[in-house]
Amino acid sequence: MSLTESLKWRYAVKKYSDKKVSEADINTIIEAINLSASSAGLQPYRVIVVESPKIRKKLGEGAFNPQITEASHLLVFAAIENLSIAHVDEYMQRMAQTRGVPVESLEKFRQLLIANITGKTQEENFTWAAKQAYIGLGTGIAAASELQVDTTPMEGFIPSKFDDILGLKEKGLKSVVLLALGYRDADKDPYAQAAKVRLPMDVFSSSL
Ligand SMILES: Cc1cc2nc3c(=O)[nH]c(=O)nc-3n(C[C@H](O)[C@H](O)[C@H](O)COP(=O)(O)O)c2cc1C
Repeated sequence: MSLTESLKWRYAVKKYSDKKVSEADINTIIEAINLSASSAGLQPYRVIVVESPKIRKKLGEGAFNPQITEASHLLVFAAIENLSIAHVDEYMQRMAQTRGVPVESLEKFRQLLIANITGKTQEENFTWAAKQAYIGLGTGIAAASELQVDTTPMEGFIPSKFDDILGLKEKGLKSVVLLALGYRDADKDPYAQAAKVRLPMDVFSSSL
């Protein structure tokens, strides 16, 4: 299937079957997310894969999204709460090592990133980090659709509750968005046969 065909095939699943997604497919989807573009390449977010039904039951208690517990896996996208110079330095080390260049040669880039971070409030940096996580979310949806793995992106959850249960605060992270992974129960999901509602192409996009 082409990417466009895969995107036409996918929809935000409401009702999942019991079928589990293989570890290989989960890894492929996570790798695709890791390969996503991010501003300056800083990747200021992490992805937590929650398979444990016990933990997902806890996460799903009182939530209006049953997909949290009924899907095969749940990806929790969590952004760095308080971006700091240490995060920039860690990135510079990784870049120097990966590209085999002296870390000193990256000093100009380092200063640019530091100026960007220190010139903004913690909240502004967190919002920026969360935006990068959403780019990863989009990649994850597309990558899963290529594998014919179903997904549901979800903002309908209480981030503070997720952060507590998953111990994210201790890791300097805050959850921002979820992606359920699994296989649709086409007989029980009324959305499985529903036509996609999208803007006409000439309204959605214009050329100059
Ligand atoms: C950021 C984001 C948050 C969403 N939150 C939820 C959610 O909490 N629960 C849900 O069932 N669907 C959620 N959706 C799915 C959308 O409702 C769905 O993508 C949209 O209606 C378009 O339909 P389609 O994806 O099936 O083509 C979310 C989608 C996005 C991108």
